[in-house]
Amino acid sequence: MRHLLSIADLSATQAIQILDTAEELSRVSDGPMKKLPTLRGRTIVNLFAEDSTRTRISFEAAAKRLSADVINFSAKGSSVSKGESLKDTAQTLQAMGADAVIIRHSASGAAQRLADSQWMTGSVINAGDGTHEHPSQALLDAFTIRKNLVRGGNDLTGIRVAIVGDIIHSRVARSNVLLLTKLGAHVTLVAPPTLLPAGVESWPVTVAYDFDSVIADVDVVMMLRIQLERMSEMFFPNVREYSHYFGLNRDRLKMMRPNAIVMHPGPMNRGLEITADSADSARSVILQQVTNGVTVRMAILYLLLAGSQESGAQV
Ligand code: CP
Repeated sequence: MRHLLSIADLSATQAIQILDTAEELSRVSDGPMKKLPTLRGRTIVNLFAEDSTRTRISFEAAAKRLSADVINFSAKGSSVSKGESLKDTAQTLQAMGADAVIIRHSASGAAQRLADSQWMTGSVINAGDGTHEHPSQALLDAFTIRKNLVRGGNDLTGIRVAIVGDIIHSRVARSNVLLLTKLGAHVTLVAPPTLLPAGVESWPVTVAYDFDSVIADVDVVMMLRIQLERMSEMFFPNVREYSHYFGLNRDRLKMMRPNAIVMHPGPMNRGLEITADSADSARSVILQQVTNGVTVRMAILYLLLAGSQESGAQV
């Protein structure tokens, strides 16, 4: 595989290969030699036309740990803000010798458009396109769930996950539903009807409107950010009411199974979908998600790029 655009393009075997490779790379990162020479001489461009902290920085750290050269390109401060098109931007990056472009864009399908075009020849990695997908986030989430909850076995068979909140605007939810169910987990989406997408009945999930009826039965509570920037109207009566019915708080933490974990892709709206004490509780693996993001993204870059150069490794 040359690109990583959607979880739908990966088989369960390919997804597990990424997680296993990340596991091996995390052992290297924990050792004395943090940097591998694998991608020396390769140029990777972080093309971010939408804001990001975690994804942009962790792809940069991952590429640097594999010894690649990294060019950071954000729409703000570039000619994109003067109206330059995606085509002209891509062709400019191609002319500079980019071997891979990691793209975040507000338009769903932007990464696919770039990969389908003749504008550049390198790999394209989707770092989040509109409300469509965020595949590297789902892979790091699956990796974090496996590390915390799976003993023996390499998939997520039998793990029960609740994804809670603003599903309709969430590319993280879409990629996670595809990946977690592919790996054998059972997923329940918990949200008010207004925050569920049309056609959710055809997704391979259970849908619930009552958080309290679900929380005691799951191993993972994955909270989603309310994406106020994508809302042109209010999708719930008010923030207080949303928090009361769908927020994670101290009382709900007490209802969770003994070993159940709390996840959030970040950035968090503390006090809206999650209270500060829930985010910082012993159950929270939110910072582990960030740490694991680097090794999972190293695995993605390694499998997409190193194979064409030396070892034959490929996703
Ligand atoms: N989870 C995530 O995509 O975070 P950023 O927007 O900070 O990259």
